[in-house]
Amino acid sequence: MSSLRDRIEGLRKAFEESARKAGDARALEELRNAFLGRKKGHVTLLFEDLKSVPAGEKREAGQLINELKDFVQEWLRQKAASGVASVSGGGSITTHGYKTEGGTDLTLPGRKRYVGTPHPLTLFEQEIERVFLGMGFTIEEGPEIETDYYNFEALNFPPYHPARDKWDTLFIKGDLLLRTHTSPVQVRVMERSKPPIRIICPGRVFRHETPDPTHLPMFMQVEGLVVDEGVTFAHLKGTLEYFLRALFGEKVKVRFRPSFFPFTEPSAEVDIECIVCGGRDAACRVCGGTGWKEILGSGMVHPQVLKNVNIDPEKYSGWAFGLGIDRTAMLALGIPEMRYFYENDLRFLRQFGTK
Ligand code: DAH
Repeated sequence: MSSLRDRIEGLRKAFEESARKAGDARALEELRNAFLGRKKGHVTLLFEDLKSVPAGEKREAGQLINELKDFVQEWLRQKAASGVASVSGGGSITTHGYKTEGGTDLTLPGRKRYVGTPHPLTLFEQEIERVFLGMGFTIEEGPEIETDYYNFEALNFPPYHPARDKWDTLFIKGDLLLRTHTSPVQVRVMERSKPPIRIICPGRVFRHETPDPTHLPMFMQVEGLVVDEGVTFAHLKGTLEYFLRALFGEKVKVRFRPSFFPFTEPSAEVDIECIVCGGRDAACRVCGGTGWKEILGSGMVHPQVLKNVNIDPEKYSGWAFGLGIDRTAMLALGIPEMRYFYENDLRFLRQFGTK
């Protein structure tokens, strides 16, 4: 017992001596390791030795060792509290899994602060813009509140024409309405510029729709327009196929269907294979089991539309398209529900862009 007592006393002196010299955080950590280290710390080893102390002396020996341990811990705690072990105390701290005596675990990751990211639709719109900018198109914009003339009449919908029913319009007052498509921007651009014209116009459009997984009263479109001499349907097809491959990959299945729009002749709608179900789910909420999803309308600009903006249809021809950005983004990103884009649920939004 007396030899154990001597060892304890010796260790206390040794600790005091080293402690006096320990000037920085690193030295303090080394000291803690040397005395309290879980495997080979001096104090830890004393507890091991306690096992071989005769039963009658165990109690007293245990007390002495505990006193030494408390002494070492208290000294280290005070030293840390006095600032020596703080990170700002000289930059030499090593934090390999240690807690400071104050209880701060320096190895914990810092508090995460979320930085806002662009909305997924904005990101997708930018992707579309990048493809067309690469082909020499420029970007145009137009007003969301339009007149009947630009939204319909100049696009070859006479008043009371039945084709107007297809665009369930939200009227404002008199001649004003919320644009039902981005096509009026074509008219505005053609009015103020001369061919060659090569533009896209992204923007919000509005329709009197009941919300469901693929319809909303407000959504986004991007319009495209090319007008020049000698422009043909082959240009339309080639450009749109190139564009859709750039967005969805080389192997994407695309189909052109004959269609009707008052402002184009001939007209075509373009479908893309349903990426949500791949045509394998008869009850797919996105494609209704058809395996295809319509994403854009297109066609050769109707000669009457060119005349309306004083472009000579004998000299110039053009093609145009209008694409639903939301729907296309849903297919590209595998999102089964258009409403997710507008609910502003952070759990959804944080999945896009850089975090
Ligand atoms: N504006 C049409 C729509 O909203 C889409 C469209 C079809 C735009 C043909 C065009 C076009 O430019 O040529 O359904």
